Amino acid sequence: MNSNQANGQREQWGSKIGFILAAAGSAVGLGNLWKFPYMAGKNGGGAFVLVYFVILFLVGFTLMMAELVLGRHTQLNAIGAYRKISKAFTWVGVLGVLAGFLILSFYSVVGGWVINYVVKSATGALHTTDTGALGDMFGQLVGGTVEPILYHGIFMVLTLAIVFGGISGGIEKASKIMMPALFIMMIILAIRSLTFEGASEGVRFLLAPDFSAINRGVVLDALGQVFFSLSLGMGCMITYGSYLSKEENIPQSAIVIPLVDTGVALLAGLAILPAVFAFGFEPGQGPGLMFVTLPAVFAQMPLGRIFELIFFTLVLFAALTSSISLLEVCVAYVVDEWKWNRKITTMTLGAVIFLMGIPASLSNGPWAHIQILGERGFFDTYDFIASNIFLPLGGLMLCLVVGWFWGIDKAVFEATNNGRIRFGLAPIWSFLVRFVAPVAILIVFIRSIM
Ligand code: PFF
Repeated sequence: MNSNQANGQREQWGSKIGFILAAAGSAVGLGNLWKFPYMAGKNGGGAFVLVYFVILFLVGFTLMMAELVLGRHTQLNAIGAYRKISKAFTWVGVLGVLAGFLILSFYSVVGGWVINYVVKSATGALHTTDTGALGDMFGQLVGGTVEPILYHGIFMVLTLAIVFGGISGGIEKASKIMMPALFIMMIILAIRSLTFEGASEGVRFLLAPDFSAINRGVVLDALGQVFFSLSLGMGCMITYGSYLSKEENIPQSAIVIPLVDTGVALLAGLAILPAVFAFGFEPGQGPGLMFVTLPAVFAQMPLGRIFELIFFTLVLFAALTSSISLLEVCVAYVVDEWKWNRKITTMTLGAVIFLMGIPASLSNGPWAHIQILGERGFFDTYDFIASNIFLPLGGLMLCLVVGWFWGIDKAVFEATNNGRIRFGLAPIWSFLVRFVAPVAILIVFIRSIM
């Protein structure tokens, strides 16, 4: 007996709101607060945001539905779910679990930076408007050898501690407080950032699309970002869906989760990019954007030090509600299929992921010269392979499996709780999942690989 199946019954979410918050918690994370603003900065701002929105509507909602429906129907982990539809698709689930490993390996490194920033804000080390000094501080941390690995380890330990507890543990309760707190915090920050002199240039950068900036790279990055940010394409929502009761309204959840996720990403963009322009930073500077710009914003706010501490703590929490979902994808598979004990599984996988993360951490410092894929070091290679290849490929296969092989009628039947609830968008969703989403993914994918 294992904790996924106490009394032969699969464990379920404690409540409806608990599931929504856990799934939104998985979606809202470093992808929104840290990655979205710098991806937008790197890819021409509004051009990226526009493409992101188009892909979000065509692909994001569609795949969210598909994963949740497949998960609840099969009541299985990512690999088990695909295999139940047909043995020929087992590999799609395997790809998902591998993506989980890869993503968590570098995600946890960034999570470690966040913990370090919680400590730094508690001691007041970040309380300066000297952006040069802030840049140096960030560079020193991520370029180090032992320190970032140590913090990466602490982040993994926190992740393990939560996953140890199983599904309906403290995370549901904690999410109820922390998710709304994060939302309010982001609004306050966006307002402060928007009221700096020169901020409007940042708003224009983020929201006014420069069509000439749209190219293949931008489209592939936006596609990868939709998958990454919504936790799609690797079976995370299949796994979370497998713990859903047959009463849950999946169509509703599949709309609420992406809306919350996108709202937080936009707020993060509005909190960071206007300040970037007001302070004369470079928007395309990459991963350091959140860590360097925001402290300067806080330093210019009343009670800034306290807000800063609260903010980085909330970022840490958002990262943890995502990292546990990444680990859960891998753990659920081993617990379900190999019948391993949940705690032993969690520790073993956690150790492997910690080790895989070490090269990712070092590639920002002592190993910066090592190139793995093109000019990418370990960190960027993990991100690229997972976000831009595995997740879109997983998403494409998901559409084919749900829309064509399993059968769209059966999928809609599951989505309507066997005909007991209304799903007015069913014809549109069916069309999107069978034709629009797979074709869109395929086009982006092929064009960018060529
Ligand atoms: N969606 C998370 C974020 O935006 O930070 C990252 C993530 C979590 C990706 C879970 C994939 C996943 F399965």
